[in-house]
Amino acid sequence: MEKDRIKELINKLAAEHSLSLEEYEMLIDGYSSEAAELLAEKAVRVRQSVYGNSVYTRGLIEISNICRNDCYYCGIRKSNRKCSRYRLTEQQITDCADAGHELGFRTFVLQGGEDPFFTDEVLCRIVRRIKQAHPDSAVTLSMGERSRESYRALFEAGADRYLLRHETADKEHYEKLHPAEMSFDNRMRCLQELRETGYQVGCGFMVGSPYQKNADIAKDLRFIEDFHPDMCGIGPFIPHKDTPFADRKAGTLEMTCYLLSIIRLIYPPVLLPATTALGTIHPLGREMGIKSGANVVMPNLSPVTVRDKYMLYDNKICTGEESAECRGCLDRRMRSIGYELVIDRGDIKRDRAYNEERRISD
Ligand code: SAM
Ligand code: FES
Repeated sequence: MEKDRIKELINKLAAEHSLSLEEYEMLIDGYSSEAAELLAEKAVRVRQSVYGNSVYTRGLIEISNICRNDCYYCGIRKSNRKCSRYRLTEQQITDCADAGHELGFRTFVLQGGEDPFFTDEVLCRIVRRIKQAHPDSAVTLSMGERSRESYRALFEAGADRYLLRHETADKEHYEKLHPAEMSFDNRMRCLQELRETGYQVGCGFMVGSPYQKNADIAKDLRFIEDFHPDMCGIGPFIPHKDTPFADRKAGTLEMTCYLLSIIRLIYPPVLLPATTALGTIHPLGREMGIKSGANVVMPNLSPVTVRDKYMLYDNKICTGEESAECRGCLDRRMRSIGYELVIDRGDIKRDRAYNEERRISD
């Protein structure tokens, strides 16, 4: 009976791309390997109709691990005295992008802690330099919470996309993951302003973060359904030994893949990465993410000398590999499951998704 109800919910989600809050919670509570298989099958079919066998890559450049914030889950939080801090120079950042372009990357993601050194002036100059050198490429920023004016200046300098995970769509849960200086309302303001500024916007959350209940995840899914982000980054929470959440359990591969499939069905064109965190909790995590409906991978382009310093969680993979090795490794991994890494900016195919769907339902 229960199983039939779950199957019904999956069919409804695939047909209507929408469920109520209660239905999302029921779907999460009703996890089983059978349900996961059915969801993945539907998610892969819909992803295939929009993106075929292509997997998009983004070259991740971790520009600084200096952060003014103190998120309880994060290894580079300001209170972690054991973290050895670094900041890349402008030249190092543009060198990484140049090397990445040679390797076939057409999107560069500049990510970092909220480091006050990266004022609008500095960051705009870097964005301009990368866009000037590589006009065929997109620049994505993932530099945390900033003012509306700052988002505007960076957009005008040429940044195309912005990633800012909402972390949780439940305010009380947000407050258990962050100190009082950080606010849920400000996070949401930023996402709204990023959208209004004209960016392609990414939100997202950690699966299995401390205190997370299935009802919270249901809210995340409703939020994604309402916001329709262009990108959505989800990965398992993994504890970091020098944070207040050191002794917490990590999120699971199974639930992360289950949610990847659900998110693909909520919004068929969404750009959905199989994250490094997923590759960290299981040696084939990224492959399984793709087989659950993800269509993006984000290999690391940061200089190897700083890789092991951008330690958001314990045992992060790829800290010893050169950029070219990571690219080659992912290329092989994707081929092994029948997919292909493509040389492409990898923009969202909004129209294609809906045209395809109309065609299928006609
Ligand atoms: N400062 C920027 C921001 O806040 O968006 C970008 C860097 S921040 C470290 C990037 C993401 O890493 C966060 O949004 C969070 O979801 C994820 N993260 C941090 N600590 C993590 C952990 N212990 N396990 C898994 N993901 C984590
Ligand atoms: Fe970095 Fe495999 S992706 S070594």
